[in-house]
Amino acid sequence: MEIPQELADHIDEVITHYPVSKRSATLPLLHLLQEHFGYISEEAITWVAAKLELEPINVLELVTFYPMLRQNPVGKHHIRVCRTLSCALAGGYSLLDTFCKHANIEKQSGNHHAHFFKSADGKYSVEFVECLASCGTAPVCMINDDFYEAVSEESVPELLKKYQ
Ligand code: FES
Repeated sequence: MEIPQELADHIDEVITHYPVSKRSATLPLLHLLQEHFGYISEEAITWVAAKLELEPINVLELVTFYPMLRQNPVGKHHIRVCRTLSCALAGGYSLLDTFCKHANIEKQSGNHHAHFFKSADGKYSVEFVECLASCGTAPVCMINDDFYEAVSEESVPELLKKYQ
């Protein structure tokens, strides 16, 4: 894992924000590494642990607890579909299926327990996430950093055209 000097310097600076306990810098560091690499690798977990003088398990437990942290490399464009109650009732599950269909993502039919799917060409990935805090405009999704509300299945092909 190669960390560019600029990112390494930024990480060192972020750690100084937590003079009482370096451990508190774990989440900020994980977010920075995910932003740069697209996901949190095992190597990244070991690296963060060494940097903050922790055991790798202390870092891994955060990575597996918080849904916004990913252990899989995402596609060029990453789609997050909310599946919490309001969105589930408004068609969130079916919306994810529609994204998969139009993004050429093979998904085992009926498997709503898996969280993450990716197209064979690496162009798109899609995952279920929990409440994105816009329950009144369900169903909602995010594509990369863009937020979309009241997303209809009919709008999916047009939406995907923006992300080529
Ligand atoms: S349930 Fe989907 S945004 Fe809250």
